[in-house]
Amino acid sequence: MAPGFNDGENGADSSPKSVHVNNPHLDSMKEDILYHFNLGTSSHNLPQMFGDVKFVCVGGSPWRMKAFIQYIAGELKLGDPKDEFPNICAGTDRYSMYKVGPVLSVSHGMGIPSIAIMLHELIKLLHHANCTNVTIIRIGTSGGIGLDPGTVVITKQSVDPHFLPKFEQVILGRTVVRSTDLSEELAEELLQCGKELGKFGTAIGNTMCTLDFYEGQARLDGAFCSYTEKDKQNYLAEAYAAGVRNIEMESSVFAAMCKLSGVQAAVVCVTLLDRLKGDQLTSSHDILSNFQQRPQILVGHFIKKRLNASQKS
Ligand code: URA
Repeated sequence: MAPGFNDGENGADSSPKSVHVNNPHLDSMKEDILYHFNLGTSSHNLPQMFGDVKFVCVGGSPWRMKAFIQYIAGELKLGDPKDEFPNICAGTDRYSMYKVGPVLSVSHGMGIPSIAIMLHELIKLLHHANCTNVTIIRIGTSGGIGLDPGTVVITKQSVDPHFLPKFEQVILGRTVVRSTDLSEELAEELLQCGKELGKFGTAIGNTMCTLDFYEGQARLDGAFCSYTEKDKQNYLAEAYAAGVRNIEMESSVFAAMCKLSGVQAAVVCVTLLDRLKGDQLTSSHDILSNFQQRPQILVGHFIKKRLNASQKS
């Protein structure tokens, strides 16, 4: 990575930005075992393995995150997309992790608890590895509201099911409210990348983060449902009026934890369906798999652009 690489919020400030942890107990630990990654500070040389990481892309499925590293390796000319990239977390089936050059790709499973556990260990990993100027992007899938299926939504604000930009964490029996602010500059930069590509629709909007795929997202096709189609439509209309353009299950804790760690973060999710028109995923496998490549293509373009800019500076 070229020295002086700067991707901070403030373009004029070129001092390196580290990845913060805020836990006094960590200092007194002889070793930090990142259990769900099968990595540790004594068993692995984390600065050597990860010190050059500048971009971390996270997504639900291990398969998709492997496909992403193969794609980005080809785009950055750091390998052949057909290469087999080793899973750095081999030995555990909780998460998988792949790396090529300055890009790390990590799976996080489904829902807030799963991504939160992964993020605790990822943030510590980046901190222990002395990484600086890291950008983290969640690339995922979502249900859209009033958008053509296949549209890629870049999250402006992650909001809860009451359309409020906050994440509530219960700690020692008390509710701690954390902000879900994301970098506006990064969101605009990603939108610009979508426009430059011109291959598919890209939009900026609020993303509603829920605890569930069915009742939590006003679906009518779960095992249990106590509301009508009209109730569902009213709720989604309220969400739309609050600026919500897509719904998924990880963005709130992702935004909150990235903010606490001081890293620039974004959420880029493709919409698989328009929830105003239905609940079930009826598109063919080929169409859905094409849609799922879109956040990867957009973020791949963004990473190439950033790297080119840093080489020139
Ligand atoms: N992911 C979600 O959380 N909801 C959808 O409707 C599609 C993908």
